[in-house]
Amino acid sequence: MKKITIAVDGYSSCGKSTMAKALARKLEYIYIDTGAMYRAVTLFCMNSGILQGDKIDTERLEKALPEISIEFRTLPEENAPQVYLNGECVEKEIRSMRVSEKVSLVSAIPSVREAMVKLQREMGAKKGVIMDGRDIGTTVFPDAELKIFVTASPEIRARRRLDELKAKGSAVTFEEVLKNVQERDYMDCHREVSPLRKADDAITLDNTCMTIEQQDEWLMQQYRKAAE
Ligand code: DC
Repeated sequence: MKKITIAVDGYSSCGKSTMAKALARKLEYIYIDTGAMYRAVTLFCMNSGILQGDKIDTERLEKALPEISIEFRTLPEENAPQVYLNGECVEKEIRSMRVSEKVSLVSAIPSVREAMVKLQREMGAKKGVIMDGRDIGTTVFPDAELKIFVTASPEIRARRRLDELKAKGSAVTFEEVLKNVQERDYMDCHREVSPLRKADDAITLDNTCMTIEQQDEWLMQQYRKAAE
């Protein structure tokens, strides 16, 4: 089968990365979690004082952007790539609620998107890549051979994210997580640059009532059709 580019876009917390990671492992493809890249830039802004409350010093951010290094490394003891920000593993920190609450603000900034899209295109230039995010099928790789648009009800997404956060020891409530999911949906769909929308040639997957196994099987079928 030929090597293709697979774009997985959709709402927050609808299991995009779980399914994309599993398929990448099966196919021995590179997996890129673009949300993690925007989260890492957000953490950088928080730690450097560029972001204070909801205020972003865009001038300072634009100057700092060329010095922000974001990489994915897979260590032998882990089975998924981990995000490194300027050489430091930030995988755990970027998933925290404090970063989730600010990431839509930072990811709406045009210069941030421009820098991340450039990096994403370089990372996926050789095909054999599965990239998940919000604008992969519409902006990053509009020529991707397979585009999936994932959706599920906000409540089920909040429940899944809550389970993930609790497993990592976080003491958040269902209401807090649901509010964050709904706010991010709104901001991701209404920002000016590359808002979240389904590409015309994307296939929709509503996984509200699907098990992970059913979803993996469905995705494998779509891959076979696109890659043959
Ligand atoms: O996939 P995620 O929930 O980890 O993404 C975090 C945020 O990053 C999300 O609220 C919107 C933003 N994002 C984006 O704007 N474009 C992408 N390609 C990926 C994520």
